[in-house]
Amino acid sequence: MIVGVPKETAALERRVSLVPETVSKIGAGVSVVVEKGAGEGAGFADSDYAAAGATLAADAKSLYGQADVILKVAAPTLEEASAMKEGAIVISFLYPLANIEAVKKLASRKATAFAMELIPRISRAQPMDALSSQANLAGYKAVILAADTVPKLFPLMMTAAGTISPAKVFILGAGVAGLQAIATAKRLGALVEAYDVRSVVKEQVMSLGAKFAEMPVEAKDAQDSGGYAKAMGEEFTRKQQEFLAQRAKGMDVVITTALIPNQRAPILITEDAVKGMRPGSVVVDLAAEAKGNCAITEPGKTVVKYGVTIHGPLNLPSTMAPEASRLYSKNITGLLQLMLKEGKLVVDIKDEVVKGSMVVNAGQVVHIPTLKVIDPAAAAAMAPPPPPPASPAPPQGAPKR
Ligand code: NAI
Repeated sequence: MIVGVPKETAALERRVSLVPETVSKIGAGVSVVVEKGAGEGAGFADSDYAAAGATLAADAKSLYGQADVILKVAAPTLEEASAMKEGAIVISFLYPLANIEAVKKLASRKATAFAMELIPRISRAQPMDALSSQANLAGYKAVILAADTVPKLFPLMMTAAGTISPAKVFILGAGVAGLQAIATAKRLGALVEAYDVRSVVKEQVMSLGAKFAEMPVEAKDAQDSGGYAKAMGEEFTRKQQEFLAQRAKGMDVVITTALIPNQRAPILITEDAVKGMRPGSVVVDLAAEAKGNCAITEPGKTVVKYGVTIHGPLNLPSTMAPEASRLYSKNITGLLQLMLKEGKLVVDIKDEVVKGSMVVNAGQVVHIPTLKVIDPAAAAAMAPPPPPPASPAPPQGAPKR
């Protein structure tokens, strides 16, 4: 079985799906082919791959033409999907709802496609959790970016010339990225406060030494069965925005990380909230990829408005490409090894991790939200039947049997 590692083609993408040290660890019966230059952006030379036992392909055409399994970071483009061998298997971040045409092309090529972001967050799948491995790095870098921009020092300093007070940092969203941002800002000596709509994270925030900003109105039913936040109603959102605008007033840095799966990121920091912030303060919006948690964010840009600098960075993990690639390489190899049996890929859809991350199975789109867009009738046919109606309650006073 030939596993192919192409050079990533997306703008800003410096990561590579497999690093040299993982090449020989995939398993017996597997040959790895790496496109020339694939590791360059992450600091891995072709000679490192060759020394690890990989074969080098001169270009993308030759790589896609021979690989049975393609390992990627970013979703395949239409051209990449077209270049794959018929029936090939591809594993990458896929975000199928944002890449419908590529998914259709994969289906027409009878491919089988797995999305790293859809791997269920269960204990067994933790080593494959690329969302976490990359979000953790982004949370760290967001703080470094903020510390570099804000004209304030993070730590308290007592000097002969006077005392410098620590920076006040407010982290919105205490998932993987937010918790790492809290830990990093604390390590730099800042006073840290954090907020999340899921109140279950309060303990985690406090265990990192940060204060949890408690909204006076309780967010009911804020978490779905997968542990993700749900979109909140209009009334709650308005109250939340007012509350956060008040809290943001005294902050030097606001780092936002709030995401809702498959939806636009919630607006937590309105334009009025930015207006109310101190001149010179900084917002780093890690949700920029999902249009941002701050109303002023321009994805991929840094804007200054009302004296506040608002960063909307895209793909921060790519700015730490060597480590980001090492972690991703472990994640993607974990999924591959789960399906590897004696040098062959055996796709067992009874396995929760395999099933949960699969988007296309030998040409059939099996991810229901994607199928709903591509072929609504087929999606309806695949959806599980509704539960039978509950039997009516016996009338009050009915005789007992
Ligand atoms: P995420 O990236 O989807 O969202 C980031 C954070 O934003 C979340 O904590 C979310 O509650 C928060 N958020 C969403 N809407 C918000 C709003 N309107 N206001 C304030 N905050 C809002 O989350 P992430 O980091 O991917 O984690 C998702 C879940 O997965 C969490 O429950 C986490 O504990 C769980 N998880 C489980 C793992 C496992 O292996 N068991 C590994 C990693 C995460």
